[in-house]
Amino acid sequence: MPDHISVYDRTRSYTWNYDHPPAAGRTDLKQTFDNCHFCRLPVDSPLGISAGPLLNGRWCLYYASLGFDVLTYKTVRSRYRTCYEMPNLQPVSCGQLSGSETQLRTSKVMQGSWAVSFGMPSQDPDVWRTDVEWTRSQLPTGKLLSVSVVGTTATAAASIHELADDYARCAKWAVESGADCIETNFSCPNVTTNDGQLFQQPDDAQLVAQAVRSIIGDIPYIVKIGRIPDRSAATALIHSLAPFVDSLAMTNSITATVADPHANLLFDGQPRGICGDAVRTASILQTAMFAEIIKEQDLTLRLIGVGGISKAEHVREYLAAGAEAVHLATAAMINPSVGQQIKDDLMRSATLAD
Ligand SMILES: Cc1cc2nc3c(=O)[nH]c(=O)nc-3n(C[C@H](O)[C@H](O)[C@H](O)COP(=O)(O)O)c2cc1C
Repeated sequence: MPDHISVYDRTRSYTWNYDHPPAAGRTDLKQTFDNCHFCRLPVDSPLGISAGPLLNGRWCLYYASLGFDVLTYKTVRSRYRTCYEMPNLQPVSCGQLSGSETQLRTSKVMQGSWAVSFGMPSQDPDVWRTDVEWTRSQLPTGKLLSVSVVGTTATAAASIHELADDYARCAKWAVESGADCIETNFSCPNVTTNDGQLFQQPDDAQLVAQAVRSIIGDIPYIVKIGRIPDRSAATALIHSLAPFVDSLAMTNSITATVADPHANLLFDGQPRGICGDAVRTASILQTAMFAEIIKEQDLTLRLIGVGGISKAEHVREYLAAGAEAVHLATAAMINPSVGQQIKDDLMRSATLAD
């Protein structure tokens, strides 16, 4: 454990938080679960951090020292991109969401869920490539570094081929820098350009996944997707991606607009991804539906459960639904010790699944 537990400061900018990573403790203290794999690779536990909280290598090492074993480097691009204006993390007041909600109210205090509004900022590739290389060199065996990438095109009207080439370029750079796995974000609810909603377009998603696979060779490959409640849409996406992808990570978030207590809309009235506690039930249901389809079709796609995890019980629910591993974001940002607490709880029980 580090000497001092620090958290991302949501009252300050993304740049400030990027420049002020907490000091990591030891990353080599092992707590190994039997027979754990992440995307074909052996790993110490099924517990990881999803793309988001780990802004750079120092943030990765901090969470590695807090017991997380898969560290996903926050989504990077082929060029520098600034972050959206604050608020980047706006607490909301709501129960479990299904995806049919259109508008939520802000909350003064964090109750477990927030609207996330960063717009996938990125450092210049020279900066993140050097940082990824350094980060991998600092992580012991048993811990994996996954790098999340997204394609960027000069205009929103650019062709899907241009977008696919750019995804592939970033993926190649990440592999060259030593990433153990590549994740492509096919679901960013907070951008309105063509890189935002690929998971809803199976043919385009396949074209991009094929381009990425052809450039990264045999490296484990994850696609991050958003909310898909519909079985036929899920089946179509699975068929498009299964030939090229090792694993699907779900669910990125559930989108909604957000209004303050006076009914004024935040974020210029644009929807934002709601993350945290509120997305757990829908995401577990989605994981179970995907697992069922994958089994029926006799495919080898693996699943990573993401969304609303803050307890060992939630981990067990995702694993029972068919996930091979789980990733946390919100709960680990609010309480960085949550990984260790979950691991201790899981260790006390005989098996990972109920
Ligand atoms: C601060 C923050 C930043 C995020 N940035 C990204 C990102 O860059 N790329 C991505 O694929 N998902 C991003 N996400 C979504 C998370 O990876 C995750 O899917 C979502 O937060 C649901 O998990 P949770 O309920 O544990 O927070 C971000 C989430 C948060 C909270």
